Amino acid sequence: MRTIFWNNEKQQLEMIDQRRLPGMLALYTCTTCEDVIVAINAMVIRGAPAIGVCAAFGLALAAQQSKSYEINGLLTDLEKSRLALYSTRPTAVNLAWALNRMKVEINNYQGTFEKMKSFILGKAQELADLDVILNKQMARFGADLIKDGDTIIHHCNTGALATVDWGTALGVIRFAHEQGKNIHVLVDETRPRLQGSRLTAWELDQYGISYEIICDNMAGYFLKTGKVNKVLFGADRVAANGDVANKIGTYMLALAAHENNIPVYSVFPTSTIDITLENGELITIEERSQDEVLEIYINGDKATPEGAQARNPAFDVTPNKYISAMVTEKGVIYPPYDLNLSKLFENQPH
Ligand code: MRU
Repeated sequence: MRTIFWNNEKQQLEMIDQRRLPGMLALYTCTTCEDVIVAINAMVIRGAPAIGVCAAFGLALAAQQSKSYEINGLLTDLEKSRLALYSTRPTAVNLAWALNRMKVEINNYQGTFEKMKSFILGKAQELADLDVILNKQMARFGADLIKDGDTIIHHCNTGALATVDWGTALGVIRFAHEQGKNIHVLVDETRPRLQGSRLTAWELDQYGISYEIICDNMAGYFLKTGKVNKVLFGADRVAANGDVANKIGTYMLALAAHENNIPVYSVFPTSTIDITLENGELITIEERSQDEVLEIYINGDKATPEGAQARNPAFDVTPNKYISAMVTEKGVIYPPYDLNLSKLFENQPH
């Protein structure tokens, strides 16, 4: 099952409700663009490529909701919805990328008003299908870096759930596993939302890949034992110089890996590269509610003092020097990243 899909029969958007996992595999339904905005904000769906595709379908729903009877009115309604979708989550650039691509397609539309809504839905569907194709390409390239017997530390959730299907970094691990390589994954639990222990561990269970969950602050210990061969994670926005914004905790993990001479690989589609940003310091970091940090209960008792304050940046930026290689659908990219990432965009619009 795809993480997100259009239900043709019911004419509605459906997605796996990631808040319910691992306990329950439940679907969440969106019939309006407002539903989609709630789903992205509340992290019913999360993961950079998945929220991009979700936003594209949000625009398709906005088109269906529009009461306008002519193209200009529909375009005005769509622009309002596009801006609302755009501001749901600021760090992952795939959201903006998908909405911008949709805008270009819509602006270039030459057909009749009657066919315009189904055209927009078709374009969202194309983005969803493209995501799966790109993930499989990345998985193939990335799997060449994985050796039989590798132990890998993986951060956050980068699997099928973070995309439409298959995944980025976890897609690489899955592909290597399907090639017959024996792999063990140390799954960072990924505080505070626990994307690792709730989602990545659940996915690894489905694929039959060996894993153990570790607390984020144990990664340094394991990296120092000499028994970890690689660190893998995805990316939410990559600056033109190769600095990588990814789930909070990635920077500390990459630092510890670098100190212990363990290769660090970031896996992402080229739509995650923001070639307009010179370096990672320019990336906006989403700060989420402090409740995600504070509302922790152990045996029914709150584990933080009443009235305590918390900080909750959802992402951090890992400087390019700590990334050994980047895996994209166009191949594996090595330093110097400023040069080699810009080559990917030569002669083609982003
Ligand atoms: O806050 P989330 O769960 O949307 O963050 C997701 C991540 O940081 C992933 O690691 C990232 O999207 C890259 S993998 C698709």
